[in-house]
Amino acid sequence: MKIQLKPSANPVPDVERRERVSAPGFGKYYTDNMVVANWSEADGWSDAELVPYAPITLDPATAVFHYGQEIFEGLKAYRQADGGVSLFRPQENGARFARSAARMALPELPVEDFVATVEALVKQDAGWVPNNPGESLYLRPFMIASEVGLGVRPSNAAMYLLIATPAAAYFNAAKPVSVWISTEYVRAAPGGTGEAKCGGNYAASLVAQKAAAKEGCDQVVWLDAVERKWVEEMGGMNLFFVKGSGDKATIFTPSLTGTLLPGITRYSLLTVAKDLGYNVEEGMISVDQWRAGVASGEITEVFACGTAAVISGIGEAKSAQGNFTIGDGKPGPITMKLREHLLGIQHGTVADAHGWMKRVL
Ligand code: PLP
Ligand code: COI
Repeated sequence: MKIQLKPSANPVPDVERRERVSAPGFGKYYTDNMVVANWSEADGWSDAELVPYAPITLDPATAVFHYGQEIFEGLKAYRQADGGVSLFRPQENGARFARSAARMALPELPVEDFVATVEALVKQDAGWVPNNPGESLYLRPFMIASEVGLGVRPSNAAMYLLIATPAAAYFNAAKPVSVWISTEYVRAAPGGTGEAKCGGNYAASLVAQKAAAKEGCDQVVWLDAVERKWVEEMGGMNLFFVKGSGDKATIFTPSLTGTLLPGITRYSLLTVAKDLGYNVEEGMISVDQWRAGVASGEITEVFACGTAAVISGIGEAKSAQGNFTIGDGKPGPITMKLREHLLGIQHGTVADAHGWMKRVL
């Protein structure tokens, strides 16, 4: 796949762009350009085009509007200490995008093409990468079924798009997140699409998110669909539990049972925690074990992690069975240490021991 460049002739003026980048929010502003590529069953992938950011026009009978055949990714470009720009593990996002495509009967975009489009957009719109630690340029690659027709079948055409938005962390690092443990709804069942990053998973989660908000909570914690007792993940983040404290602490996360999204932050933190000398463990944890562990003091910290969320401490958990506070309700020391270390790698101030960063500029 070649990338043809037709960058915006009318970029956002420098002064305005700098204002937007200095107070980015999340998904509030979009950069000057985007990438588009089309696939058809007959011809495969077209070349990708880097074009001015603009609305797209689709026939109302386009498949994605009716049957939700869509996948997406989320990754970030980080300003480096020396002023350069690097991506964090883009090949991993490319590989997951290909797995999501296979699950949703969409065409696979080769990982090297995925990464090349991300690099091209970041290079073109580098002026949109924020400068503050913890802020970044969030890249959103996605693919939609673009065949026109109402037959329920895998689409014979698809469109790949890539957009970018300057981003602060999804949550304020100092403010702990409160969670609602949903026993009424499930996110993903065995054999379903929980492992894939497809829009449908998020659409189905929104009613529970609404219920969480009604209970005064920021996020939903999902349980397994079969027994409704094993803790899986959150709406857009994986979960970690800290057992014990100090150097001997164990960093525990729910196993990838096939219904959780295999987070790249999760996977990276298992390595970072080991590098920092902690024990790491993957396994099953029930809500009762979580509650009892907090009550006995065995579980000292709980945090959520993901590309958008970075690492956020969880202060309080609520459910139909009652509420409990974790530790003193504030993000714990190990949560903050892991956060600083990971952000340090991402911004180039901590050694990149595993070759995770891909320099773009
Ligand atoms: N779980 C869900 C449901 C998500 O949407 C995300 C975000 O992408 C994650 C976990 C964390 O994944 P990652 O660390 O790759 O961003
Ligand atoms: C991400 O962290 O990239 C996510 O996709 C989470 C959420 C914004 C959907």
